[in-house]
Amino acid sequence: MTTEESTSTSKSKSLWDSIEPVPDDPILGMITKFNEDKFPNKVNISVGAYRDENGKPYVLRCVQKSLEKYVKDNVNHEYIPMGGDETFINLAIRVAYGDDFKYLNRVAACQSISGSGALEIGQTFLKKFYPYKKIMYYSSPTWANHIAICKGTGLDVGEYRYYDPKTKDVDFEGMCEDLEKLEEHSMVLFHACGHNPTGVDLSHEQWEKVLKIVIKKEILPLFDMAYQGFVSGDLNEDAFAVRLFANSGINMLVAQSFAKNFGLYGERIGCLSVLTQNEKQKVVIKQNLAKIVRSKYSSPPKFGAMIINNILSNDELKKIWLEDIKMMAKRIIDMRVALKTKLEEIGSKLDWSHIVKQRGMFAYTGLTPEQCDRLKEEFHVYTIRSGRISIAGLNPSNVEYVAKAFHEVTKGN
Ligand code: LMR
Repeated sequence: MTTEESTSTSKSKSLWDSIEPVPDDPILGMITKFNEDKFPNKVNISVGAYRDENGKPYVLRCVQKSLEKYVKDNVNHEYIPMGGDETFINLAIRVAYGDDFKYLNRVAACQSISGSGALEIGQTFLKKFYPYKKIMYYSSPTWANHIAICKGTGLDVGEYRYYDPKTKDVDFEGMCEDLEKLEEHSMVLFHACGHNPTGVDLSHEQWEKVLKIVIKKEILPLFDMAYQGFVSGDLNEDAFAVRLFANSGINMLVAQSFAKNFGLYGERIGCLSVLTQNEKQKVVIKQNLAKIVRSKYSSPPKFGAMIINNILSNDELKKIWLEDIKMMAKRIIDMRVALKTKLEEIGSKLDWSHIVKQRGMFAYTGLTPEQCDRLKEEFHVYTIRSGRISIAGLNPSNVEYVAKAFHEVTKGN
């Protein structure tokens, strides 16, 4: 008898047989398909990642300089604390809430594995400690992975109206009606800016109205802030909603990602914060966040935090960072205009004005899944099948090609 025969019974052989295969991830699966495509003019506008004028990943100038310092400082590779690097956390929360935020001493925060990790830690914390109904309400639609992360923490998922496909804009009336109907103390996830996938955000006045409902119904907001700076080019402007809510002194949580605004996608660096009511709560919650991290993956990675610390604690590098953000946001805004203009020049009779009205990294084009399939198969233009495109993947060299492809798959509609 061979060893294999002696240890394998028919039961042990079928142990994994009932596991279902997993379909490609609707967003990240496109990266693999794009990389396999040999067509020279292929364009990837599926994943939300900024590309330079040549369609290549962009390393921010401040990150390059920070890396030089990192190497020069000969940084060691010791563990960092379970809750993350304290210098990083203190700098990160100032980016979200502002340097002059009056309740900074009440913010309990931990370093996270980018924005997704922040959502995971935050919602695990809520599942464990929130004393009311454990349902997180999400906008309809929302980022595909939101629901999976939420369910993974054991919270239930609900939704509120957000987008009106007819106007290709926010369904503000529907949103307010749904929020008004929620039970008191419900938990609601808000996209702080650059709504993913729709690219439509609330105005200042609309946020003020939502805050009134939040206060009246004692809703607990969880802000997902993955695109701070990418919408307007200004960190303060893009943090308007977070700061408006935070300055009202309510309980709330913020999940920050530094993937986009530092171009540190693969370094997985972010921050989860809980705005509490006093310093005593802050201390206890901070300990509990660290305890959750310890039980999940022990402690966070060090590299991204060190790169960001070098930038945010040095005035010159911070200035370069702010310039880089402005430059990236401007390119995105310019590309919205360029895409619409090219479509019109080519002769499209459809109304593409929503492309320039929508904001941030994404546009919700209104293309159908079948049209998106044709874009990929006939033109090697990769989008998400929901019709969401990442404007950050467009540049002056590929925008005309993409416009032509859009026109081909939409003409006659
Ligand atoms: C996106 O929505 O394209 C990004 O947030 C990347 C991702 O992980 O889905």
